[in-house]
Amino acid sequence: MTDRPTHALPSYLNADDVGPWGIYLEQVERVTPYLGKLSRWVETLKRPKRTLIVDVPIELDNGTVAHFEGYRVQHNTSRGPGKGGVRYHQDVTLSEVMALAAWMSVKSAAVNLPFGGAKGGIRIDPRNHSQAELERITRRYTSEIGVIIGPNKDIPAPDVNTNAQTMAWMMDTYSMNVGGTSTGVVTGKPVSLGGSLGRVEATGRGVFTVGCEAARDAGIDLNDARVIVQGFGNVGGTAARLFQEAGAKILAVQDHTGTVYNPNGLDVLALLNHMEQHKGLAGAPNTEAIANEDFWHIETDLLIPAALEGQINKNNADRIRARIVIEGANGPTTPEADDILNDKGVTIVPDVVANAGGVTVSYFEWVQDFSSFFWTEDEINNRLEMMMRSAYTTVAAVAKEHNVTLRTAAFIVGCARILESRQVRGLYP
Ligand SMILES: NC(=O)c1ccc[n+]([C@@H]2O[C@H](COP(=O)([O-])OP(=O)(O)OC[C@H]3O[C@@H](n4cnc5c(N)ncnc54)[C@H](O)[C@@H]3O)[C@@H](O)[C@H]2O)c1
Repeated sequence: MTDRPTHALPSYLNADDVGPWGIYLEQVERVTPYLGKLSRWVETLKRPKRTLIVDVPIELDNGTVAHFEGYRVQHNTSRGPGKGGVRYHQDVTLSEVMALAAWMSVKSAAVNLPFGGAKGGIRIDPRNHSQAELERITRRYTSEIGVIIGPNKDIPAPDVNTNAQTMAWMMDTYSMNVGGTSTGVVTGKPVSLGGSLGRVEATGRGVFTVGCEAARDAGIDLNDARVIVQGFGNVGGTAARLFQEAGAKILAVQDHTGTVYNPNGLDVLALLNHMEQHKGLAGAPNTEAIANEDFWHIETDLLIPAALEGQINKNNADRIRARIVIEGANGPTTPEADDILNDKGVTIVPDVVANAGGVTVSYFEWVQDFSSFFWTEDEINNRLEMMMRSAYTTVAAVAKEHNVTLRTAAFIVGCARILESRQVRGLYP
């Protein structure tokens, strides 16, 4: 028998333009030497378990018929059902959904949640559609992927441009198709429909919790610690408020309308009020407007990117004067910037740990839905803090043991847990 080569790249991706899946494969290569005997199973991580591409046809409000491309990728389900958001964006690609699904596998495992990783998306610009059209798109997409999702199979959640209303439509469509109420099929639902208290703030609260741990390890006293935050939405706004409540000084905050600065510390509650009225930070009272580029060069203890991908890159990394970066956003630091910051001795708490608060409370929502017994917000916040602290401590210990960055350590912890499950389950049939 001739040796058959194993190709890491599936034939359905363009080998000349692999996209985000290529970055993920590089990350897996980097941790493989640390996986010991488990590396026998590493190919499992390089192949999504299931990749579904669906056509989503709907009638538009003007009576014409339009077709959209939708995806649901289940990267790995060795540790439990797939878990991951659904993104509505005109630039969504299969490679991107595959990578996001894989990062969910690593994130769920790094935090020790009993989930695998999955992700979904539709190539659509939601700004061009009415609520009624978005509802029809969501319902048809849910029906199309209905064959592979379910409370024990794969549980979607909101992501970019989807929200609690989208999840309510998904829950209703799935429930109608199976002929019974199925709240546990999605998380991030409205509280009135089996959603969880604390879910809205969960990611920012998780960022705050691991931020406190990392600051303590670096010998930084949070009282009077300096913090700057990019993104003042769900994640950044909550994190900024919690750090201020803990005594830290929020020196600067940036959103899509500009950067506001106050060397004596901004009043976060006043900024949140201003945001509500003006939909942006620009022009907030008692603040100085500074150029967006200057935000990155402010001397600070903590820097929290909580907006978009790739914001910390080779153009600004060498001038960053932060001691710790806590990645609230997904993928805010490019690999080149990662190397520059590591060389400068800046600690980076990676996204797969730092922003795992959202999926952790999604896990609580799923558990509460199964028992139809709902917890108080205090119970949720306490359990969230306990799990985030424990995840940080585990990853920090592995980083110390192998003398690697927290990012590599998080991948070692996550990938090893996934492959251990694969090994003990064995191959079917
Ligand atoms: N919401 C969650 O539970 C959750 C969970 C995990 C990861 N994340 C990640 O966190 C990040 C933020 O998510 P969110 O839910 O807070 O979104 P959001 O829409 O509530 O807020 C995004 C913020 O980023 C700002 N922003 C957008 N473009 C910008 C630009 N060019 N420059 C500066 N600021 C800009 C916006 O003004 C806004 O303040 C995303 O990367 C998301 O994937 C969110």
